[in-house]
Amino acid sequence: MPQNNELNNMPRHVGIIMDGNGRWAKKRSLPRIAGHREGAKTVRRVVKTSGEVGIEVLTLYAFSTENWKRPKEEVSFLMNLLIEYLFKELDELIEENVKLRAIGDLTGLPLDVQDYLQNSIRKTTNNTGLILNLALNYGGRDELMRAIKSIYKDIESGTVLFDHLSADLVDTYLDTASLPDPDLIIRTSGEIRLSNFLLWQGAYSELWFTETLWPDFTKEEYLNALKEYSKRSRRFGKV
Ligand code: FPP
Repeated sequence: MPQNNELNNMPRHVGIIMDGNGRWAKKRSLPRIAGHREGAKTVRRVVKTSGEVGIEVLTLYAFSTENWKRPKEEVSFLMNLLIEYLFKELDELIEENVKLRAIGDLTGLPLDVQDYLQNSIRKTTNNTGLILNLALNYGGRDELMRAIKSIYKDIESGTVLFDHLSADLVDTYLDTASLPDPDLIIRTSGEIRLSNFLLWQGAYSELWFTETLWPDFTKEEYLNALKEYSKRSRRFGKV
């Protein structure tokens, strides 16, 4: 296992597609929700480790714009699990200097989730450590569509000049405004695709895939992913 001091060249921003909760449960003949509950324990581990090794931003894909198509009971379980996670972990997040943030169309979340989330975000607003960025009702295309509509409105009202449109300006309209782009995107459970996660921001991200199902993703494997990232040479299109 790599020691923290071996972890040079850390990513500033890590994004994780937490996949495989359902399969974890199925393997044990448990209901899918049992996999999500176990997955929440992995969230706890990964957040703690990210803070320990000095990651600046951790974005977790917790609920996608497509996840509404799941059975109603599973959707409401996931929403409640989020509230439960915040309820149980908030004190510790505050103690660990974690600053909570969220991306996605938050207005589409149930009102109690919106309230709980905004309250939790407020309570961590002065923290200066790891930014824990939860992607909720998030889809990269939806985020871009919302950005395009806002830009269009601002051009129409004269706040933005068409000739001043640039990639940097687009950045400021995204939910991730002011955050660095993800350096590393991890996906668990053997699926090798991005599934609408950070499409614009991930243009130059290093990708790391593992067969491990999310509930089984250990601190050791996470540290190994970070170590492997630290050895990669990133050229951003240059030679
Ligand atoms: C994908 O596994 C997982 C999700 C859609 C939900 C992610 C939620 C958690 C990890 C739990 C709670 C999160 C927080 C932030 C407290 P899947 O259900 O698609 O798995 P499968 O592909 O094996 O069916």
